[in-house]
Amino acid sequence: MHQSATLTGRPPSASHLTLSQIMDQHHTNLMGTVHGGRILNLIDSVAGVVAARHSDGPAVTAAIDETAFLRAVRVGDVVHVDARITWAGRSSMEVAVKVSADRWDRAVPPVDVATAQLVMVAIDDEGQPRAVPPLLTETDGDRRRYREAQIRREHRLALRRALLDGAEEG
Ligand SMILES: CC(C)(COP(=O)(O)OP(=O)(O)OC[C@H]1O[C@@H](n2cnc3c(N)ncnc32)[C@H](O)[C@@H]1OP(=O)(O)O)[C@@H](O)C(=O)NCCC(=O)NCCS
Repeated sequence: MHQSATLTGRPPSASHLTLSQIMDQHHTNLMGTVHGGRILNLIDSVAGVVAARHSDGPAVTAAIDETAFLRAVRVGDVVHVDARITWAGRSSMEVAVKVSADRWDRAVPPVDVATAQLVMVAIDDEGQPRAVPPLLTETDGDRRRYREAQIRREHRLALRRALLDGAEEG
């Protein structure tokens, strides 16, 4: 792996991002609500920006897991995609994304519509993993999210190992 000079740690707040967008009629499903793929696209894009901000360069999506769609999004709703780094390793980062929506026709608080966790890997000019700054947790919430992300990482790696072992056994 390409190693940078000593990297200074950064808090999640330095890369935290919320993107808001009005949903139009171009990405609807047969029911006339917004297609899940459109929401996933927004999740992936915003997570990519957050990972690039944390790591000062490009990052690719290695895995998307734990995606839950809680409520349908309607045309005209204002969708808010909120993404923050929860964990950083050598070259990989976990980004947690929460999606909420303001209903276009009602002045009510935003409703939660989706959550997801993504593994993003910082890459160099050759597409190889490169080192990322450590994550500096500042708040109790940061520390809780970091612990939870670490558990998810252990599960992902264990699953990957088990599947590879199974494949070798034929
Ligand atoms: C992501 C990618 C760069 C990883 O390359 P690799 O040769 O497997 O690199 P490594 O095995 O060294 O893994 C790099 C890091 O990613 C993590 N990682 C890779 N795949 C992972 C997965 N499926 N789940 C969790 N972590 C994963 C590793 O644990 C490691 O983390 P660390 O450096 O923080 O310890 C490579 O698989 C790739 O380019 N994939 C395609 C990405 C892409 O195009 N995405 C867009 C979707 S089309």
